Amino acid sequence: MEEKPLILMTYQLPEEWLGDTLDDYQLILAEGDQKGITANLRDHLSHAAGIFCLLDDPITADTLQDAPQLKVVSNMAVGVDNIDLETCTRLGIPVGHTPGVLTDGTADLTMALLLSVARQIPKASEDARQGRWANWNPTGWLGADFKNATVGIIGMGKIGFAVSQRLAGFGPRILFTSKHTKPEIAQALNAKQVDLEELLQKSDFICLHTALTAETTGMIDKSAFKIMKDTAVLINAARGAVVDTDALVEALTSGQIRAAGLDVTDPEPLPPEHPLFKLENCLITPHIGSATYQTRKSMAEIALQNLIAGIAEEPLPHCANPEVYSET
Ligand code: DGY
Repeated sequence: MEEKPLILMTYQLPEEWLGDTLDDYQLILAEGDQKGITANLRDHLSHAAGIFCLLDDPITADTLQDAPQLKVVSNMAVGVDNIDLETCTRLGIPVGHTPGVLTDGTADLTMALLLSVARQIPKASEDARQGRWANWNPTGWLGADFKNATVGIIGMGKIGFAVSQRLAGFGPRILFTSKHTKPEIAQALNAKQVDLEELLQKSDFICLHTALTAETTGMIDKSAFKIMKDTAVLINAARGAVVDTDALVEALTSGQIRAAGLDVTDPEPLPPEHPLFKLENCLITPHIGSATYQTRKSMAEIALQNLIAGIAEEPLPHCANPEVYSET
């Protein structure tokens, strides 16, 4: 009897999401609390047909080279910066990802961060809980308005666009940067495309929605903070490493910017003793942009579809390295 294709999974999906989708495959699940290809998975790499992984599982060139029968890597995320994409392409391995389904969830969370930081909601709530709500204080817990403010969106992809659409109801002016010139988007959003320097100088709120690439790693560094307004608020719902963490700590501590709202950090997870957690002007959530029931279920569904298609040597419904099909 023919052996069932082997899938290595770094995470056990809930039964109700999995159903009988993988009944025709052999599954080996990661053991222990390490990320990526754990020791028990490594033992089976040589005959694995598919890898199912999460955004914080490093899938390195070493791993890929030890998996000569690998037909697909399926990431349950839209971002694929945890995977050595170049090596995958060179080895003819398509990489699946989950675009689209997390756009709204991530845009909603970005709005939550923007509003929470702008109106000091965590501090106000904590003060109330701790008995510091003595009276209605005309000068207490003052925040910033969105109406007539300038919001800068760095990275005008699906999520940047969805955030801009949500913002429209709040009445700010919107600036954005993008790799490509996007006059139709500018027109649709009544926004202005500018270069990074202008956006950093003019924005009251700066939202990061760019993928993590060699070009965007450390993009928000010391010199970027230097040209921001000292009242600026930085929101990061993209990838932690787009921001230079030490420079951010310095900017928040010295008052170079007013505040930050971070759903992603570098490193991630951020250790509890990290200086960012000590700053009252920094709100941190644990990478929950896509954390709604429906979004996570849809991400799992797409990741499973990619996995199965890859093992069957069919084109992935959502492939992060489509060039793999022309190069092999
Ligand atoms: C992704 O899929 O890349 C997101 O960061 C998950 O929230």
